[in-house]
Amino acid sequence: MALAWLLTALTACAPAADDNASADARIALGQRLFEDPQLSVDGRLSCAGCHASALRFTDGRPVSIGVGGAQGTRNAPSVNDVGLMTSFFWDGRETRLEDVVLQPFTNPVEMGLADRAALIARVSQDREYRRLLVSAYGDDRVEAERLVTALSAYLRSLPLTPTRYDRHRASEPGAALSADEAAGLALFAGKAGCADCHRLEGAPAALTDNRFHHTGVGFEQVAGNVAAMLQQLDELQRQRKPIGEAVLASPQIAQLGRFAATRRSADLGAFRTPSLRDVASTAPYMHDGSIDSLAEAVEREIYYRSLARGRPISLTVEEQRQLLAFLHTLSTTTPAAR
Ligand code: HEC
Ligand code: HEC
Repeated sequence: MALAWLLTALTACAPAADDNASADARIALGQRLFEDPQLSVDGRLSCAGCHASALRFTDGRPVSIGVGGAQGTRNAPSVNDVGLMTSFFWDGRETRLEDVVLQPFTNPVEMGLADRAALIARVSQDREYRRLLVSAYGDDRVEAERLVTALSAYLRSLPLTPTRYDRHRASEPGAALSADEAAGLALFAGKAGCADCHRLEGAPAALTDNRFHHTGVGFEQVAGNVAAMLQQLDELQRQRKPIGEAVLASPQIAQLGRFAATRRSADLGAFRTPSLRDVASTAPYMHDGSIDSLAEAVEREIYYRSLARGRPISLTVEEQRQLLAFLHTLSTTTPAAR
């Protein structure tokens, strides 16, 4: 009995060093999968093609363009902050990162592979992948589950660089806010009510409440036949395909917002509050990329949030300028690196 226990304890402890090595190897495998255009149907588009590290893991476009120039319906969010999110996509239709990471490979308007088997086949043909699989999992079997863990581990490993606002809050030297920025913060948290949804708590501050709200942006476009749209979503579910295949292909279905995921009428046209981390560098804005500049996005927000709460948020030109100055402190560029 005691011997059996000792053996179990020993085998549980022994691989600690190996565990670290294989965790690193999984991240390396995940990074290669993320950056490899060979895993798209035309060999030209990787995950990083739409989530480019140089563009804060976005693509700088209003809506994403997939293989063969296929036009998507949504603005690519950063994947740098997946650890701060409690749901994924603008409509929160997934709640586990693991359920998200393989979807783009087979979405026809993203990477366009026919199915999971096509993905497995492409990975299997590549010697470097087999080597990485051995380091990560002990043998070179290509299994979907392994690719899921590797990609998720890579995304979670992306460092969350503090914003200047975070550094200011931690009283770091050189990170103090200017008078205008401080006035902007006071407006953001006070009179303008922005922090109700773009939450300032947490270190680093998440700048989202992870909840869903109505905007009015683009919602006028939900003119189509909702019953027909729901039929399309049902059909995908019957085929056990992600509803993202319809959401990213049909602008009308995309405008249903969270409703497409929950079917609750209150969720019609509701979207997840985006984090404002790095917001000054991630134009264009909103779920459909319909707003070009940060100043314009702030104006729209003031307008729609006033409508939603039934009480105008009135800011002078000077106050709007201060609010914008504050939004620029939500940037992760450290002064030293500038
Ligand atoms: C064609 C461009 C494109 C490609 C290629 C692409 N993505 Fe995305 N990604 C998007 C868009 C657009 C969204 C938002 C979709 C939505 O909200 O419905 C998104 C959302 C995500 C999210 C959710 C982020 C959040 O904050 O909710 C993750 C995670 C993600 N992608 C990972 C990946 C991975 C992993 C790959 C490669 C396997 C990949 N993406 C390939 C455009 C792309
Ligand atoms: C009731 C919750 C709520 C409040 C209050 C709110 N926002 Fe938002 N914000 C959102 C949601 C939801 C979106 C996404 C809307 C969309 O895509 O249609 C958004 C989008 C944005 C964007 C675009 C970000 C991006 O990456 O696309 C900016 C900038 C922004 N808000 C700033 C502000 C400012 C400044 C205030 C205060 C005046 C404010 N918000 C108040 C929920 C809110």
